[in-house]
Amino acid sequence: MTSPSPNASALGFPADFLWGASTSAFQVEGAAAEDGRGPSIWDTFCRLKGRVDNGDTGDVACDHYHRYAEDVALMRRIGLGAYRFSIAWPRVLPRGRGAVNPLGLDFYDRLIDRLLEAGIEPWACLYHWDLPQALQDHGGWANRDSAGWFADYAVLCAKRYGDRVKRWATFNEFSVFTLFGYALGWGAPSVADRGEHLKVIHHVNLAHGAGVDVLRDLVPGASIGAVHSVQPCRPEDDSPDNVEGAALFNELWNLAFPDAQILGHYPPRIARAVEPYVQAGDMARIARPVDWFGLNHYAPLFAKADPSMVWGCGFGSPPADMPRTDIGWPLQPEAFREALLDLTARYRLPIYVTENGYGTKTPEAPDDNGVVMDTARIDYLRACIAQMAGARRDGADVRGYFVWSLLDNFEWGGGYGTRFGIVHVDFATQTRTPKESAHWYAALIGSALAESGAESGE
Ligand code: FCB
Repeated sequence: MTSPSPNASALGFPADFLWGASTSAFQVEGAAAEDGRGPSIWDTFCRLKGRVDNGDTGDVACDHYHRYAEDVALMRRIGLGAYRFSIAWPRVLPRGRGAVNPLGLDFYDRLIDRLLEAGIEPWACLYHWDLPQALQDHGGWANRDSAGWFADYAVLCAKRYGDRVKRWATFNEFSVFTLFGYALGWGAPSVADRGEHLKVIHHVNLAHGAGVDVLRDLVPGASIGAVHSVQPCRPEDDSPDNVEGAALFNELWNLAFPDAQILGHYPPRIARAVEPYVQAGDMARIARPVDWFGLNHYAPLFAKADPSMVWGCGFGSPPADMPRTDIGWPLQPEAFREALLDLTARYRLPIYVTENGYGTKTPEAPDDNGVVMDTARIDYLRACIAQMAGARRDGADVRGYFVWSLLDNFEWGGGYGTRFGIVHVDFATQTRTPKESAHWYAALIGSALAESGAESGE
């Protein structure tokens, strides 16, 4: 080990702080056409020419559908207290509604049971971007009926798994999949239309509210949240146009969903724009009480005015002297503390960090001794966890942390060439090799368990 041993309790994390890892269905499961799974909008998107690096698809991914038991064993070796995964809507309802797919439902039974046997708490997310294509063919999220489709899907999952799964998230990163999919055209379903995007923002918020109601009604003892991407948003420079562009982008990226869901109103610029789609009673349907705020955070965001974008604003560049990863993401761990404290002041909810991590285009192949020396990832995780400790000392009620990701996986437009895992996956052989960051994370978790006098698993 090159790095000093981490010590969770010295950083002030209590013994019951939850240490976990996250994945999502489309990114890891594979088995895309197996056992009755229907196509999702990401299967369609992957087949559009030039949209995903290397023409990669989710057809096989990490083959987690078949290798979940090996993956749960890995989680246990690392000492994870929780595993956040998503349920693939098209696996359990191949056409999005109507006929259920019993074999698809069985898969999550197996996964959940295996996690529970290993002493790992299952955290299920209902939607991590893989809308059934059949629903997209009926307008997808731009159709107001989508809130009802989502509620029916939530009923199915709550009834089936709610006896064993108590931790539920409705959606993952509302702002990211709606902006990328409907305003920028960079993700599925590849639309770039301001009016469509506005409808989608509102309908997805309605779907979230309906999902919370379903989970609350059907899952005894449920602990319910939603997962938001929050990145302190800074103008690229201080020109008035870019300052206003960044203010608008901040509302789109950071506020449009949590403000509606937790405060019961849209931020001002979005409120004006979305008004034609808001019906009487909608805001009360959206703002259903939740138990925690799920934060995904990787980096600060730089924004600017951009007339070529449907909103007239878009991504700007970080300052030239700010360090970045080789995929271009700024490295400024202090932004994480800032995000945690801002959220605490604005929403006053317990926070779980549902994603944080470090991605690279470096192949990170194991050396002759089977070692993957991912020092830069360890350095960034360590710095972020120290910032999280600082935010806790300053009053943020952060109760858990999930690293993204357990495994190298299908990184959306980056395909398999971008790696975020603490476990290396050789996609030709599906061999898993824990990277040094996995050993480091295991030591961090082990230090927390040692302090509490608990057994450390293996
Ligand atoms: C987040 C996504 C997750 C993963 C990471 C790197 O935006 O929620 O699926 O792609 O970024």
